Amino acid sequence: MADIALQALSKVYRSKVQPEGLLALNRVSLAVADHQFVCLLGPSGCGKSTVLNVLSGLDQEYDGEVRVAGAVVSHDSTHPIRLGYVFQEPRLLPWLTVRGNIEFALESVGIPKGQWRERINGWLDRVGLHDFAEVHPHELSGGMQQRTSIARAFAVDPEILLMDEPFSGLDELTARSMRELLLGIWLETRKTVVFVTHNCFEACFLADRIIVFTPRPGSIKQEFTVELDRPRNYEDPRLFDMSVKVTHFVTGGRE
Ligand SMILES: Nc1ncnc2c1ncn2[C@@H]1O[C@H](COP(=O)(O)OP(=O)(O)OP(=O)(O)O)[C@@H](O)[C@H]1O
Ligand SMILES: [Mg+2]
Repeated sequence: MADIALQALSKVYRSKVQPEGLLALNRVSLAVADHQFVCLLGPSGCGKSTVLNVLSGLDQEYDGEVRVAGAVVSHDSTHPIRLGYVFQEPRLLPWLTVRGNIEFALESVGIPKGQWRERINGWLDRVGLHDFAEVHPHELSGGMQQRTSIARAFAVDPEILLMDEPFSGLDELTARSMRELLLGIWLETRKTVVFVTHNCFEACFLADRIIVFTPRPGSIKQEFTVELDRPRNYEDPRLFDMSVKVTHFVTGGRE
């Protein structure tokens, strides 16, 4: 079961300039069921990326309890299941080609070499980078780099996908087609997804549930359920209404 359970998760960042620490997250409790698509929505600095870093095991200095697939994420445990992580920025290895970057990920999770070529070509086709497999990241636009990192995340066939504002750096047209692509893939694969955004419309378009955070220190302010059928349509007036409702709540009616 690729489920997630946060129980009173708090995070304090300590540094030389702030030895007393900065409270980034304050007692966040959240359960995400297997196969659910959840969006975390909140203003800049409210701790959204911090939640993903803790979930992924990259940050193990926290208070509270974090369980992924039933197992506690801690210093002395390895992650029980395969995770895909799309960061806010593409984070590609500059000395490797597009193909090489994805191969690196496949190797690190132990996918047999015999499967690499077909798998990589399939995912590059889907993100529209079929002709760019042999080029290096600096030869790609920012959007193409992010599409590479999305292909890389899916290629490892993760049970849980963590996505940190993956489309916020893309132009709106590309972002729209990437959201549609993501929903299409999700409908086929039904991975558990935790998707961070500060875009209310994007959250409504993608999610089953939208978790709205307060400004820092981040805690859960409200939850919305999106009951629209999938595949969703940008022109659907119900989507628009939902997005207006969430935006109104998030901005306190200032928009
Ligand atoms: N490595 C770090 N060291 C010290 N403070 C940090 C560190 N990473 C994040 N913070 C602080 O923790 C708070 C939450 O940061 P985080 O990156 O999780 O926010 P966010 O919600 O993802 O914001 P954004 O939407 O801008 O990406 C911020 O106030 C930030 O300054
Ligand atoms: Mg962030």
